[in-house]
Amino acid sequence: MIYLDNAATSFPKPEKVINAVAGAMRTIGANPGRAGHTLSLAAGRVVWNCREEISKLINNDNPELISFGFNCTDALNLAIFGCVKAGDHVITTMLEHNSALRPINGMVQKGLITWSLLAPGDEGYVSAEQIEAAVQPNTKLIVVNHVSNVTGIAQPVVEIGKVAAKHGVLFLVDGAQSLGMLEVDVKKIGCDMLAFPGHKGLLGPMGTGGLYIREGVALEPFREGGTGSSSESMIQPDELPEAYESGTLNAVGIAGLLVGTRMVNARREAFYAHEKVLGDYLWNELQSIGGVKTLTNRAPDCAVVPFNVDGYSSGQVATELNRRHIGVRGGLHCAPAVHTHYGTINLGAARASVGISNTKADVDALLTAVMDIARNGI
Ligand SMILES: Cc1ncc(COP(=O)(O)O)c(C=O)c1O
Repeated sequence: MIYLDNAATSFPKPEKVINAVAGAMRTIGANPGRAGHTLSLAAGRVVWNCREEISKLINNDNPELISFGFNCTDALNLAIFGCVKAGDHVITTMLEHNSALRPINGMVQKGLITWSLLAPGDEGYVSAEQIEAAVQPNTKLIVVNHVSNVTGIAQPVVEIGKVAAKHGVLFLVDGAQSLGMLEVDVKKIGCDMLAFPGHKGLLGPMGTGGLYIREGVALEPFREGGTGSSSESMIQPDELPEAYESGTLNAVGIAGLLVGTRMVNARREAFYAHEKVLGDYLWNELQSIGGVKTLTNRAPDCAVVPFNVDGYSSGQVATELNRRHIGVRGGLHCAPAVHTHYGTINLGAARASVGISNTKADVDALLTAVMDIARNGI
C-alpha cells in the first residue's frame, strides 16, 4: 500500500516512536501526577519532557502553558468554548476545519454569538487586511487555520497576529497541518492559543494533541474532574496545566509524541524540504494530465494536493486508487466551506498528502494511476 493520506494522520510512525510507546507500556505504565511512587513519577517526567520538547518547537518559554488533550479537535474546542461567550463576535475563515467551524457555528445557530466567515483571495488565503476590516467592537476571537488541510496553502498568521494584538482580540491558530513542517513560533505569531495534534507532523500516536495557552489567558475549563492536585477541593483548580487536563492523560501516547517531537526538533527543515519537493512535483505533473484538475492555481506550501478527474466523483477516484493499493482521501475532508469556495461541495476532491516516508516513486505511482484513470476510465 502506498500511503498518501498523511494530512489525516502520519503513517508509518517512526520505529523510535513505536518503541517509545511499547517501552512506556512495559516499563512506566503508571498514572502520571497521581502518586508519589517511582513509576508515577517516571510517567510524570515523560509528560513533562514532552511539554518541554513541544515548547522548544514553538518557542514557548514555559512548558506549563502546554495542556495535553486527545487531539487537535479537543484543543480547538477547549480554546473556543473556553473564551467565547454570549454576545461575542468571532472572525474566522472558509479554510477552517469542522473542528473549529462546528463549535463556532453551533453558537451562532443558537443565537448566542455572531461571526464573520471570510473567503480566501486568489492566492488561497485570507489576508490580514480582510481580518482587520471584519473586526467589530465585540470581536472576542480570531480563529485561523495556519495551513489548509484541503489546499495545503498557508495563511499569513504573523500579519494576522499583529491585527489581533492591535485590536486587543484573542488569536487562536490551528496548527494541525503546519506543526512539524513550517516554522511555528508563538512569539513571532503573537498568538494567544495554538491548537495542535500529536499524530500528524509531530509523528506521535493518535489520541495525542494539545493547546498552548499564552500566560495570562484564562479559559473556562471544557472538562472538570480529577487532576491529581488539590484533591481536597470540589472546585476545579486553576493551576496550569492541570486546570485543563482533567482525567488520566494518554501517557504512553505522550511518550511516543515526545520521541516524535524530538525527531522534528532535530530535522524539521529537512522533513519539510523533502515533502515540499514531492508536493510541488505532484502538483506540477498533475497540470499536464488531460481531464485532471487541481483545486488550487498554485502548488501548496505544505504537501497536500487536492484534484479531480473529469467524469468521476472524488469518492470514485479514491476507491479506484485504493483498488490499486494507493491510499488517498476523497470527499470533503471535514472542511465544507473550503469546498464551497472552490465550487467542489458536490464533487469533493481526491486529496494526496505526502509524508516524510514517501518517495518520488510513490508519487510517480500515483501519477501513473491517475493518468490511466483519466485516459482509460475506471
Ligand atoms: C486543519 C485541521 N484542523 C483540525 C483537525 C483535527 O485534528 P484531529 O484529528 O487531531 O482532531 C485536522 C485534522 O485533519 C485538520 O486538518
